[in-house]
Amino acid sequence: MQSELNPYAPGSGLRPPAMTGRKAEINAFDLIVARSKRQLHSRGMVLTGLRGVGKTVLLNSLRAHADHMGWFTIGLEGMSGSTGASIIREKLARELLMASRKLVRRSATSRIKEAVKTISSFSATVGVAGAEFGFETTQGRADSGSIEIDLEEMVEDLALALKEERSAFGLFIDEMQDLDSELLAALITVQHQAGQREWPFYIIGAGLPNLPAVLSEARSYAERLFDYRRIGPLDESAARQALEEPAVKFGARFEPKAVEELALAAVGYPYFIQEYGKAIWDLAPATPFTQTDAVLAIEAGRSQLDSGFFPARWERATRSERNYLRAMAQDGEQSCSTKTVAERLQSSHQSLGPARAGLIAKGLIYAPEHGLVAFTVPGMAEFILRQHDGNE
Ligand SMILES: Nc1ncnc2c1ncn2[C@@H]1O[C@H](COP(=O)(O)OP(=O)(O)OP(=O)(O)O)[C@@H](O)[C@H]1O
Ligand SMILES: [Mg+2]
Repeated sequence: MQSELNPYAPGSGLRPPAMTGRKAEINAFDLIVARSKRQLHSRGMVLTGLRGVGKTVLLNSLRAHADHMGWFTIGLEGMSGSTGASIIREKLARELLMASRKLVRRSATSRIKEAVKTISSFSATVGVAGAEFGFETTQGRADSGSIEIDLEEMVEDLALALKEERSAFGLFIDEMQDLDSELLAALITVQHQAGQREWPFYIIGAGLPNLPAVLSEARSYAERLFDYRRIGPLDESAARQALEEPAVKFGARFEPKAVEELALAAVGYPYFIQEYGKAIWDLAPATPFTQTDAVLAIEAGRSQLDSGFFPARWERATRSERNYLRAMAQDGEQSCSTKTVAERLQSSHQSLGPARAGLIAKGLIYAPEHGLVAFTVPGMAEFILRQHDGNE
């Protein structure tokens, strides 16, 4: 088939040609938006799941819906490391100022104007002058220098102004587990305040499966503050639909056996579905796609994953981290106890601390529970076992 028409989209955060299997989450979010129109409060939402399962595209589509429904929305992405904290504050400030420009154009009530002044003060305190965006600031509002107090004042002024318009403030945060603890605690505190005082402010977060634990560690009541949704692989019918719908749209179709074969090989993982879909489109000589095309596509897709998706992660690990990953891979996809890893490497639990911490910081593994580690990428264990470069 013609490659330039290939509709499939394997990649990070790339919008799939058909986003299937996420009705429950979409409906739950639609309800939050619908309630906000009636000035009724709901809990924020947290989406968690493994890498490549579709958290980012889902989060983006929820944000697009909120935008469409007239919410004031901001998008952020957590970043680990020492510079992450300052970069994200600056990004928050800039995004707020940009969104404010649109807001004042749409609705310039006196309350909104006052809220924008508070946003401008908040942004200036964080280090981005609102003046360059043409805004005045309010003295004594959101300018204490304490992120928790300033964030709360800014959210209060903005959310209450939006409430009058039957709108709301939605903060969409991807890779939320990587936010620095100070900002994370401040955000949770403000979400808590918002719930009690019925300010229409909602954090919609996405991140790795350890995110709920990270949130609870920051503030113990975080457990009850959000509607937690686990984003898993697609079920069989959603997986087929994700493959078939784009093909049909572009004038092709699958023989039933072909789509079955691909859905099975992808084990429902959206990233793999896109990779295999792309492969079959590129290599099938004609439509309908046959079972033989599917078998060849799985081979081509796997080799693509083995030269991109997996190595991109593997190469980020240092030598000692790779040894740690190899020891984990012996248990396959399941989680593995840190004690077992230490035994396999004939090292002490303590001396492996830096390797484990490094892998967690790089997002290659996570701790599903205390004393356990697991891969963040489906199929990573098998990939590691296929590497024949021996222990380094
Ligand atoms: N519901 C879906 N149906 C079909 N394809 C999807 C779906 N969700 C995501 N995809 C595809 O899966 C791939 C991964 O999506 P995405 O980047 O959103 O995953 P993620 O969970 O955010 O991964 P990471 O943790 O690495 O950021 C993309 O190629 C995307 O097009
Ligand atoms: Mg993502």
